[in-house]
Amino acid sequence: MVYITQSAGRLVRALYEIVLKRGWAQLAEKALNLSKMVSKRMWSVQTPLRQFHGIPNEFLMKLEKKDLVWERYYDLSSQELGELIHSPKMGRPLHKFIHQFPKLTLSAHVQPITRTVLRVELTVTPDFLWDDKIHKYVEPFWIIVEDNDGEKILHHEYFLLKKQYIDKDHTLNFTVPIFEPLPAQYFVRVVSDKWLGSQTVLPVSFRHLILPEKYPPPTELLDLQPLPVTALRNPNYEKLYQDFKHFNPVQTQVFTVLYNTNDNVLVAAPTGSGKTICAEFAILRNHQEGPDATMCVVYIAPLEAIAKKQFSIWERKFGKGLGLRVVELTGETALDLKLLERGQIIISTPEKWDALSRRWKQRKYVQQVSLFIVDELHLIGGQGGQVLEVIVSRMRYISSQVNNKIRIVALSTSLANAKDLGEWIGASSHGLFNFPPVVRPVPLEIHIQGVDVSSFEARMQAMTKPTYTAIVQHAKNKEPAIVFVPTRKHVRLTAVDLMSYSHMVNPQSPDFLLGKQEELEPFVSQIREETLKETLRHGIGYLHEGLSSLDQEIVTQLFEAGRIQACVMSSSLCWGTPLTAHLVVVMGTQYYDGRENSHSDYPVSDLLQMMGLASRPLLDNAGKCVIFCHAPRKEYYKKFLYEAFPVESHLQHFLHDNFNAEVVAGVIENKHDAVDYLTWTFMYRRLPQNPNYYNLQGVSHRHLSDHLSELVENTVSDLEASKCIATEDEMELSPLNLGMIASYHYISYTTIERFSSLLSSETKMKGLLEILTSASEYDMIPIRPGEEDTVRRLINHQRFSFENPKCTDPHVKANALLQAHFSRQNIDGNLAIDQRDVLLSATRLLQAMVDVISSNGWLNLALLAMEVSQMVTQGMWERDSMLLQLPHLTKDLARRCQENPGKNIETVVDLVEMEDKERQELLKMPDAQLVDIARFCNRFPNIDLTYEVVGSEEVTPGKEVTLQVVLERDMEGRTEVGPVDSLRYPKTKEEGWWLVVGDTKTNQLLAIKRVSLQQKAKVKLDFTVPSEAGEKSYTLYFMCDSYLGCDQEYSFSVDVKGSGAGDHMEE
Ligand SMILES: Nc1ncnc2c1ncn2[C@@H]1O[C@H](COP(=O)(O)OP(=O)(O)OP(=O)(O)O)[C@@H](O)[C@H]1O
Ligand SMILES: [Mg+2]
Repeated sequence: MVYITQSAGRLVRALYEIVLKRGWAQLAEKALNLSKMVSKRMWSVQTPLRQFHGIPNEFLMKLEKKDLVWERYYDLSSQELGELIHSPKMGRPLHKFIHQFPKLTLSAHVQPITRTVLRVELTVTPDFLWDDKIHKYVEPFWIIVEDNDGEKILHHEYFLLKKQYIDKDHTLNFTVPIFEPLPAQYFVRVVSDKWLGSQTVLPVSFRHLILPEKYPPPTELLDLQPLPVTALRNPNYEKLYQDFKHFNPVQTQVFTVLYNTNDNVLVAAPTGSGKTICAEFAILRNHQEGPDATMCVVYIAPLEAIAKKQFSIWERKFGKGLGLRVVELTGETALDLKLLERGQIIISTPEKWDALSRRWKQRKYVQQVSLFIVDELHLIGGQGGQVLEVIVSRMRYISSQVNNKIRIVALSTSLANAKDLGEWIGASSHGLFNFPPVVRPVPLEIHIQGVDVSSFEARMQAMTKPTYTAIVQHAKNKEPAIVFVPTRKHVRLTAVDLMSYSHMVNPQSPDFLLGKQEELEPFVSQIREETLKETLRHGIGYLHEGLSSLDQEIVTQLFEAGRIQACVMSSSLCWGTPLTAHLVVVMGTQYYDGRENSHSDYPVSDLLQMMGLASRPLLDNAGKCVIFCHAPRKEYYKKFLYEAFPVESHLQHFLHDNFNAEVVAGVIENKHDAVDYLTWTFMYRRLPQNPNYYNLQGVSHRHLSDHLSELVENTVSDLEASKCIATEDEMELSPLNLGMIASYHYISYTTIERFSSLLSSETKMKGLLEILTSASEYDMIPIRPGEEDTVRRLINHQRFSFENPKCTDPHVKANALLQAHFSRQNIDGNLAIDQRDVLLSATRLLQAMVDVISSNGWLNLALLAMEVSQMVTQGMWERDSMLLQLPHLTKDLARRCQENPGKNIETVVDLVEMEDKERQELLKMPDAQLVDIARFCNRFPNIDLTYEVVGSEEVTPGKEVTLQVVLERDMEGRTEVGPVDSLRYPKTKEEGWWLVVGDTKTNQLLAIKRVSLQQKAKVKLDFTVPSEAGEKSYTLYFMCDSYLGCDQEYSFSVDVKGSGAGDHMEE
């Protein structure tokens, strides 16, 4: 018997899997049922309650005789259930079991991507009570999409419901094919893998489905004579292109319109087809116009990594080569404005440009942009794409409003709907190029292999051997190979696995090592990570974000120099890496998405980017790419990796902050303007093309205008509710204080609303940190698998911990990381990357917070928030020794200074005032370190402040008075202030200050000004004196946002004189 049941179990499972793969829906259902019947040892017609232990058989039989459909049980109360089986006592347990039976509710949202591919967003909500004894840790389910007749399986995947996410909605995204004529509906069936009778079916109707318009054909690549570099007809320019003699076919075809006209141009061509040089044609054209024409080229790279890479390339090419001023924006407004004024080629990310160009009406340098280059414009369809969309729309709009044509040149990968994109940026018909994916200058051979293992980790494991084989086969002649894997954990595991395979096959001489072991050793010995040392000796390097920069540098160089054949990389590095290879292996196309607690697919654009690295123009005749993916996704990838894919807008989900910014900037003054604003967007062009994607039910003029008005109405009313804007007469829009703060500091309207409602005059440090980290900007911090415990440990050991912290909440994680930063705890790996993001946003958020607080007039809280800004910059608590800001100063040493006999050394000034000899004795440091300390002390702000109440003689009650403050910095021989000295802040930061006038007795903040002080500044602060006469005392604060211990504080008083006659009468 045991033998039979066990074998039957396995056999039926095998049958099920075979049938599932063949796509036979009905048979698959039967096979799965049969398999469950075997393991549960019951018939499928029996009551599902038999699967629980502890219900006596007589009751089960009674229930089976009742012939009640299962759904009806949910309507019955314990009492009714008891009555049903004539046993009142059993009512309650039965009721409990029924509600513990795995049940899911489903809802689906479908969006057509093309005329043959539908994207389904399926939301799965658990609707049962979890009991560890019954459900253990996970409940497995099958998600199956069936066609109209319930015959064919169009998509299937395995879904694990984990205990910790029982209260959550789960969102799954997948695509299914669709054929014309359109079927009436598909069915989504979710079936438990274990429980007989547990299944939910959701019909998805296509009655109102409108498929997108057909796409126009791509641009044909003409068989032109390759253009020689001399076609530039300028020896200085020709010198920039010495690596080759001819431009490639794509460059040749687009040359004339870019180099000889001022038209707007879109060049869509596959990755690696030399589009950067196409953009350079436009830059050179701009340069050629001579010194009288403005040259203000803005280049937008959608990712920081690309911006960095391009900056160093152009710095060399145009900076050194042509003497142009190439600058990269920093994200600090004051500094960026200066860079914009100075630069001729300005490199920026979309966010930085958005922040800077929002106030284009006041900023003439934004209006004067001569050439606006947008790289990787197809990312408009990806995460963060809305910012790209907004800035391009804005530049077009500015160009239409001011007397200056801003030339727009956009680059993108091959797209199905490039025409819409091109028309949107205003490209003329001969300025619109959309080459098909096959026109690569270096042809690419693509292999897609499906691996049919459901579990993510097991699948990754199953891919390693094929990856090894792929390298050995496709890079036979020891050509370089890059392997992309989802996370840094896989990076290390895969490198080690490759090493073991290679060792097994070839124990004597490592396969992948290209040079001599002895020659490699000097490099390897400098590597810090032990595993990496080991794999490098076998010719396998690896790269991930957590690796020290020296290790990364060495691996990169060894790979570029051809000393090691293979390099394993985490997928996120694909955008910034300078490496290219003969072969690229994409090992797995999914990653773990901490926000959704599930595995998501890489965006197609990421895959194209990875594939694009398999291109070495002057070295290879062809590149190769092998992609391993989960078998059910193979068709999807086949479609979009060989053919061009379409992009859609995401703007509709992100309108709030953009509307708010435009209202603040005065571009949108009423609802008409708002609709008009939308007509400049890419979304507007796509609405009639793919209406369903945008939740539009038709394409008539009426549908469109209703949709736009609805978008405007909804967005406006949300902004109104969060007190960011005000409406008048249902039409006119005007900015409110909170809206202005949000726009100015580039933070979300939801954050500003939260700050405004949560902060109170009583808020203390703990509350302030909690409110700060509750910002929406932190919603996106990932919680990776297994991180929950780390976060719990971290938060529990902080100065401010919580009861029952919810450690899967990104805001709790942000709080923990922020406090850990103040306590100078060592954080490494992924957490360190997250911590960096937390800190960078914190600075901006705190400035906005100070503005919110001072609008409420809370003095102490404003000062506290300023202090927190100092803490963020220096990575310490306000109660720590100030000396911790200095380089090389440990906590022990700070204590020793504090306990210094004779005089306690507590501040930077104390230290500066010591005799050199004494100081050396106290610090006991090598000279080099003392030099660092001296440098810090020299640069530490030393500012002289004087102030005066203007017209202090004649202050009458209720009058506004002006306090004039003069600030002067002792520059200690320097000419520039330079960035803040901080070892703990992850980026260069400019120093900023606040001047505050307050009344300490009433905790009132009366006036505040933000000052960015160079050498000297004169600042006026206005405030109103009380309406009673008498001597009134105030305090003036001068607060830094970056250093602790250099704030200044002055008490002064104003004599409010009685208003003449009245006073005399009373005497
Ligand atoms: N005419 C040419 N001859 C030889 N090599 C070239 C030529 N033009 C460009 N290249 C080289 O081709 C490589 C890819 O170029 P580039 O980065 O501009 O491609 P791309 O189209 O921008 O790709 P992506 O979409 O990945 O950004 C670069 O290394 C570049 O130096
Ligand atoms: Mg490029």
